[in-house]
Amino acid sequence: MTDPENINTLSHTTRFPEALPTAVRWSHALLAPRLRDGDVVVDATAGNGHDTLFLAQHVLPGGRVFVFDVQVSALEQTKSHIKKHDAVTLIHAGHERMEEFLPPELRGGIRAFMFNLGWLPGSDKSCITRTDTTLMALRKAIDWLAEGGLITVVCYPGHDGGETEALAVEQWASHLPADSFETQKIAFLNLEGAPPRCVVLRKRARLTTRTFG
Ligand SMILES: C[S@@+](CC[C@H](N)C(=O)[O-])C[C@H]1O[C@@H](n2cnc3c(N)ncnc32)[C@H](O)[C@@H]1O
Repeated sequence: MTDPENINTLSHTTRFPEALPTAVRWSHALLAPRLRDGDVVVDATAGNGHDTLFLAQHVLPGGRVFVFDVQVSALEQTKSHIKKHDAVTLIHAGHERMEEFLPPELRGGIRAFMFNLGWLPGSDKSCITRTDTTLMALRKAIDWLAEGGLITVVCYPGHDGGETEALAVEQWASHLPADSFETQKIAFLNLEGAPPRCVVLRKRARLTTRTFG
């Protein structure tokens, strides 16, 4: 029997390999073929470090991963997964303050942002992402994103405030100009409860004007 709150755990897909991808698995599946060694990427919510590890495995050697979390315990947990410490910058701050920590020359050059909202599994459930700071961070992230880059946002509508946050992210994404961004929502349709869903955004490459003759 599927537990909608736990459907996003990585073990779910391990236990049921034939199952459709969870929201987290979709975020990994979308990013994996688009990342290259040498890319610069951001994990906006370190948590237990699984997404940081995934990103590091896809951009190293040569790349860099910037990782945000408001909890020291999350950053410590993340650090324990990482071998190439010099290529992974752990930042104890909210993602909504990203411009204070990202090197200015990277503006417009970051290949991917991963947001995995909600709380750190197995820890204080009061330390949770919030709609206002999540939207603030997403608005900034589209500016730092490279053309052709992706932002994935895994939303957890099952907890208090989670549905409001998920709807706000979807509303924001649905109003982005289609000539500059493609956005999608990936969600289970028939599960009971409120399983996590994934919002993904791709920044289109700007058309260059060519003159003929
Ligand atoms: C669902 S967990 C992230 C899971 C993680 N990506 C992983 O792979 O294990 C959400 C994390 O967001 C963090 N968080 C909450 N508010 C935040 C904020 N404003 N900026 C950055 N991280 C925040 C929480 O402390 C928590 O660790």
